[in-house]
Amino acid sequence: ETRQPLVVGNWKMHGSHAVNEQLLEALKSAGPLPAEAAVCVPFPYLAQVAERLARSPIGWGAQDVSVHAQGAYTGEVSAAMLADFGSRYVIVGHSERRQYHAESDTLVADKAKAALAKGITPIVCVGETLAQREAGETEAVVKRQLSAVIHALAHCVSEMVVAYEPVWAIGTGLTATPEQAQAVHALLRAQLAAASPRAAQMKLLYGGSVKPDNAKILFAQADIDGGLIGGASLKAEDFLAICRAAA
Ligand code: G3H
Repeated sequence: ETRQPLVVGNWKMHGSHAVNEQLLEALKSAGPLPAEAAVCVPFPYLAQVAERLARSPIGWGAQDVSVHAQGAYTGEVSAAMLADFGSRYVIVGHSERRQYHAESDTLVADKAKAALAKGITPIVCVGETLAQREAGETEAVVKRQLSAVIHALAHCVSEMVVAYEPVWAIGTGLTATPEQAQAVHALLRAQLAAASPRAAQMKLLYGGSVKPDNAKILFAQADIDGGLIGGASLKAEDFLAICRAAA
């Protein structure tokens, strides 16, 4: 298999025009990146990244999307609007959305479907909490989360990117060991293979305290094709170092 690695920065709720300007400038001036890279930014900054990254190979996207096409849904943003800004990706089902906004597996699946319908690649996040891992439920949890999306996407399954993010490793400085991450990625790949003949070509990203010093060993695992990077994506040098580690 020759899967091209992908590194996606999730800025979460960080940034300002001025701060983004510096970060984007640093990313652009680094020259050609050895791995495909993208940033997923807060909605108000889509216009800024679309303008600043227009002639750069770095992609961009958002961190959430509505399941609805349009209408009386105050505060929501549709996939068509994201496409309007040239978004290539959208993160769906991040654990912070599942946790703080009570997003269910079926809602997440419908969001992935809404994104694909407008030509945007959904980066679907799955992952267990610490309590679930300690209770031996990791496999059941990620299987259930992925199965809802597989069901909703049907013949388009292979068009999504999947990100495994153990909740206990997000922003905590605790990283899953490469073996722990690979074990879950292998399970996810097997589940995808049962649903799509193209599973071997799909990108499975790992997320959760990826830093320049642990990226290489994580990305070296057989079923880890890159990363979804939170904190370290806010520093150009760290994000670039992680991109280099993916190549
Ligand atoms: O989407 C990114 C993840 O939640 C990882 O965040 O790199 O700050 O741990 P982190």
